[in-house]
This record gives sequence, C-alpha cells and structure tokens, in this order.
Amino acid sequence: MSSEIVNSINNIALNNDEDFVDPWNVVSKSDTGVDYDKLIQRFGSSKIDQELLDRFEKITGKKVHHLLRRGVFFSHRDMHTILNLYESGKPFYLYTGRGPSSKSMHLGHLIPFTLCKWLQDVFNVPLVIQLTDDEKTLWKDIKLEEAHEMAYENAKDIIAVGFDPKKTFIFSNLDYIGQCPDFYRNMIRIQKCVTFNQVKGIFGFDDSTVIGKIAFPAAQATPALSTSFPHIFNGKKFPCLIPCAIDQDPYFRMTRDVCPRLGFQKPALLHSKFFPALQGAQTKMSASDPNSTIFCCDTPKQLKNKINKHAFSGGQVTVEEHRKIGGNCDVDISYQYLRFFLEDDDKLEQIRKDYTSGALLTGELKKILIDTITPIIVQHQERRAEVTDEVLKEYMMPRKLEFDYK
Ligand code: TYM
Repeated sequence: MSSEIVNSINNIALNNDEDFVDPWNVVSKSDTGVDYDKLIQRFGSSKIDQELLDRFEKITGKKVHHLLRRGVFFSHRDMHTILNLYESGKPFYLYTGRGPSSKSMHLGHLIPFTLCKWLQDVFNVPLVIQLTDDEKTLWKDIKLEEAHEMAYENAKDIIAVGFDPKKTFIFSNLDYIGQCPDFYRNMIRIQKCVTFNQVKGIFGFDDSTVIGKIAFPAAQATPALSTSFPHIFNGKKFPCLIPCAIDQDPYFRMTRDVCPRLGFQKPALLHSKFFPALQGAQTKMSASDPNSTIFCCDTPKQLKNKINKHAFSGGQVTVEEHRKIGGNCDVDISYQYLRFFLEDDDKLEQIRKDYTSGALLTGELKKILIDTITPIIVQHQERRAEVTDEVLKEYMMPRKLEFDYK
C-alpha cells in the first residue's frame, strides 16, 4: 500500500482527539481554527514556502495572488513539477469542482474558484470544472433532479467568477458521464484499482454505506485523467493541477495512488485553508447552516445583518477595556474575512495594528468588512444575472477549447 493511502488511514485514526477534517466535516477545538501545520504532517503534503512563491514569481513574471502570499493557500503536492512544465513550455491543465448542495454558493466556495481564475489567466491553460450532482444526491436528502438543477444554478455562480469560455469546460456528472464513453471507461479503470478496504480507510465508509457512495470517489478522480475529455485533449495524456480546500485531499490521495498504475502522472494540488463560519474558526463556512454562512445571493441588507449579528468578535466586552487591552485578530472573524477579501496588504496591516492596539473598535472593524464585501457580492450578482441559458450552454457543451493538442 502506498504511503499516501497509509497517511489517509492514519488521519482517521489520529482524528479522535485532534482537529477533524474530511470532505464532509471540519471541526477544530481551537478558537483559531484547524492547526494547518499538523494537517500537512498528517496528510503528508508540503508547505507552500517562500522559496516556492519566489520561484512562482520568477517563472511567471507575476506577483503572486494575495491568497497565495498570505498563506490562505498553504499546502501543495508537486507544485514544483507544474512550474517545471510551465518553464519548459509543456502542457498541463487545471481541474476543480463543486458539489451542488444549495442553489447559491457561499463566500468560502469562491476561494478555490478565485485562485483558479487567476491561475488560468497567468498560465493560459484549459480548466475543467466538475459539478458532482451525483455525489450530493447520494450524500444528502436531495432528489437527483434537484441536485441536477442546483448544478446548473451553481454553474452560474462559477461563470460569474469570470472564467474564459474559450478555455473552460463545466460539466454535471449526471449529464457528462453518460455522454462520454472515455470518461466512463477511465472511471471503471480507477474503480478496478481501489478496494473497499482502501476507501473504508480513506473515507470512513462502513458496512451500511450505500454502494453509490463507495463507488463515487472514482468519479471525482476521473477528471485528473486528461483522456476523460477527448474533445479538449484529443486523447493525449497531460498532467493536471487541482486547486481546492484541504477537505478534498482524501479524494486526491486516492487519485495519486492510482494514476501511475494507469500510466498517468499524479495530479498536483494546491490546498487552501477554510473560510471560517461566522460564529468562529472552529468550523468552516458551510451551505448546510444558513446562519453561519454568507451566500453569494445575499442582499446587502442580509450581509450587513449577518455580520453585525453573528460575526464572532475578538474584541473586549466594554469600549474602555478594548481601548486598554486591544482586540485579538487571530480569532476575530471580521479580520479573518478581510484576509481573504481585502487585496491591499498595507491597508490590512494597518487594520491589524489598529485592532490589536485597541484604536479600532469591533463595530468599526465590522463596518470595514461590510464595506469591503458588499461591492464584491453586488458585482458578483450583476455578472451572474448576465448568465443566460445560452451562456450556460456555451460553457457546458463538450467542445474543443482554444488549445491544439496534435
Ligand atoms: P464543495 O461543493 O464542498 O466545495 C467546493 C470547493 O470549495 C471548497 N470549500 C471551501 N473553501 C474554503 N472555505 C470553505 N469554507 C469551503 N467549503 C468548501 C472545497 O474544498 C472545494 O474546492 N466533492 C467536491 C466537488 C468536487 C471538487 C473536485 C472539488 C468535485 N471535483 C475537484 C475540488 C476539486 C465538493 O463537494 O466540493
């Protein structure tokens, strides 16, 4: 058994008294959230260090995105291999996804997609986006038809991030797997490589797990095989880079174990930390708890109310105490959200200093957050409103993209 698979099993065993992170749950006992350094050790990935960021800037000639330079994307697998490919002009592609469990996506979901958009612009590569409506109907109390409909609603949110239609293919599993024999064949090849015992270890399945769940991980692994998209890659084998939050890593540990056995390169990964719930960093923002969540479809009024009412404060109980002792940015959700969405490093640093010293009060910090996020959400909603059925079709039709692979 490979070390990556063994690490997965260790993860389940170690989780009892530590942070719990899997594709469905994220729980930390600490106010500051998951201990990401420990997670790197447990999952066996590598830290995104200054050397990697410097190399990134040198090779691409671009200042790295604030989500990378602030350590929101903190862990990787084989990112140097991707930079080597880019440096020598060799092809690779991006792969990411979304499991449609709600009509609207939330701010946390925007994190991997925002970085994907930036990577697509910087590297000029194809991007495939998988909508796992099959996964959501298997895991949640959602009818297959509803999950399929939500996939299309979510695709509108994804398109609103600004992906180039000439370089992007978005697909619903419920549609595409039946349309593309090459995808289905690769899925079966992957299923043939993984035992029930292995997925039990990685995902915690047991004897009462429905068989659809047991087979599903192969569906999420398959887009990492470029031959699953013959219209894009013309049957050729190319490696991919997968940006996602670290909760999705179990799927890709399995994928990385299988790929070499099928003659494919292991996919590279960029892992992000979790955008925390409004109530604090012990859990991630999740679509299944509306009070913990800011949805991309929230009105400016809802956004303001949610932040004022629910955003956990790292400030002191009284103004006098706050002025004297200052606030704690490490646990303050408004400050934490600004780290994801306020691009100006100097402004962010000034806010950190002022809140820590007590010069800035919690109400004032919340107002800065509201003023920062409101235009981002409003503009997102305007772009989403422009996504007609025609536009959806354009992104979701299996077709050649603007790249030639002879
Ligand atoms: P899903 O729908 O749970 O999440 C979609 C993407 O958003 C990330 N994510 C978050 N990132 C930061 N903070 C959060 N609070 C947060 N919540 C979710 C997820 O890591 C993911 O990148 N099974 C997948 C769908 C999928 C996929 C993929 C994801 C299929 N293929 C390839 C990534 C890469 C899912 O249900 O994601």
